[in-house]
Amino acid sequence: MNKYFLDLGYQPLANKFLKKYKKKQNKYKLKLYFNTKNKLVSISKRIPSEKMFDNKYPYRSSMSLTMRESFKKLSKEIKKKFRPKLMLEIGSNDGALIKNFKKENVIGIEPCKNLARHTKNKGFVTYDNYWNFKLSKKLKSKHGEFDLIYSANTLTHISNLKEVFISIKHLLSKNGILIIEDPSLIECLKKTSYDQFYNEHIYLFSAISLKNILKEFNLEIFDIKNLKTHGGSLRYYIKRKNNKKFNQTLRLKDQFKREFKYGLDKLQTFKNFASKSYKSKIKLINILRKIKRMKKKVLGYGATAKAVTILNYCNINEDLIYNFTDTTPDKINKFMPGKNIKILKYKKKILNKYDYVFLGAWNFKNEILKKEKRFKKRGGKFITHVPYPRLF
Ligand code: TYD
Repeated sequence: MNKYFLDLGYQPLANKFLKKYKKKQNKYKLKLYFNTKNKLVSISKRIPSEKMFDNKYPYRSSMSLTMRESFKKLSKEIKKKFRPKLMLEIGSNDGALIKNFKKENVIGIEPCKNLARHTKNKGFVTYDNYWNFKLSKKLKSKHGEFDLIYSANTLTHISNLKEVFISIKHLLSKNGILIIEDPSLIECLKKTSYDQFYNEHIYLFSAISLKNILKEFNLEIFDIKNLKTHGGSLRYYIKRKNNKKFNQTLRLKDQFKREFKYGLDKLQTFKNFASKSYKSKIKLINILRKIKRMKKKVLGYGATAKAVTILNYCNINEDLIYNFTDTTPDKINKFMPGKNIKILKYKKKILNKYDYVFLGAWNFKNEILKKEKRFKKRGGKFITHVPYPRLF
């Protein structure tokens, strides 16, 4: 049974950056629900994938050092531990992970043609299709079974989870391993980072909910890792139930313990999160209004999808955050979805023109602080809303 717990208002598509600001933009109600049976958290409104993931999708995994390093480390682990002869990545984006593998050992799936081009051009076999059973059948007849399937920040973007896992099972060899990586629900709650929710993030997994979902497909988690990426992610290691090669690790048991202790199986926990999110919104607006009264200027750092949720939920306009800056070519000189706030090309000197920097990409805080030491030295201040709105 799906129970409602938080309303994040009307939200535009989080990765639709417009060249010209339009007052009237398509917006969709973003409401969050908790399933009391399988404990899965999801959003209500489902937008067709074709509308969100088209041939202009701007997000690039290799735009940050943190992500590049995380994928490099993972590729070493995969090669050492699982030695896959044939591996599949669902949602290979611009190739941040697969470029660490030999071309004959890996195949990418990336429906956004502009991104798939990056790996195709480098000679990696890449299918620019959406993940579904039809594609899974096609892959099996062409390439046979896969002994490792990996997917980061993609499966939670697909509405039909049943088809997702049936299609994976169809392709996974008998002793094959599935590795999934997504933002962690417990970390989101602990940090009151309501901005993890936007129309692309249909689900936010926990170990508890994913275990319940996988049961239906005779798949089970045997290991888990907490990662720092995306503000706190979980990497789930999954196998077929009858594969006895791997036992449940202590790490996994600890994760379940922690999640139950925090109450990820109880609706009340999510109601508390909703009231914390509302308080966070009021506090952030107050900080920004105070800065405006002092006639100081704020720059948003990182034109993230997360920031789009914040701007539209808190109704933050150009009077409170003057501009954003980002390194992603397809975001530059465009406007933050739903808002008249222009994204400027990142240059080291850009921060000189502002007194405050709001961390849109708060999940890369360490990487950004290291890069922007001069801004702090000359008295500049950062603003973040995680785990609570504050200046530092
Ligand atoms: P991310 O947090 O992964 O985004 P989302 O919420 O959209 O999933 O994206 C980080 C964004 O911040 C991305 O557009 C690149 C940008 N960025 C910079 O412009 N400079 C930086 O130093 C870093 C680390 C990120």
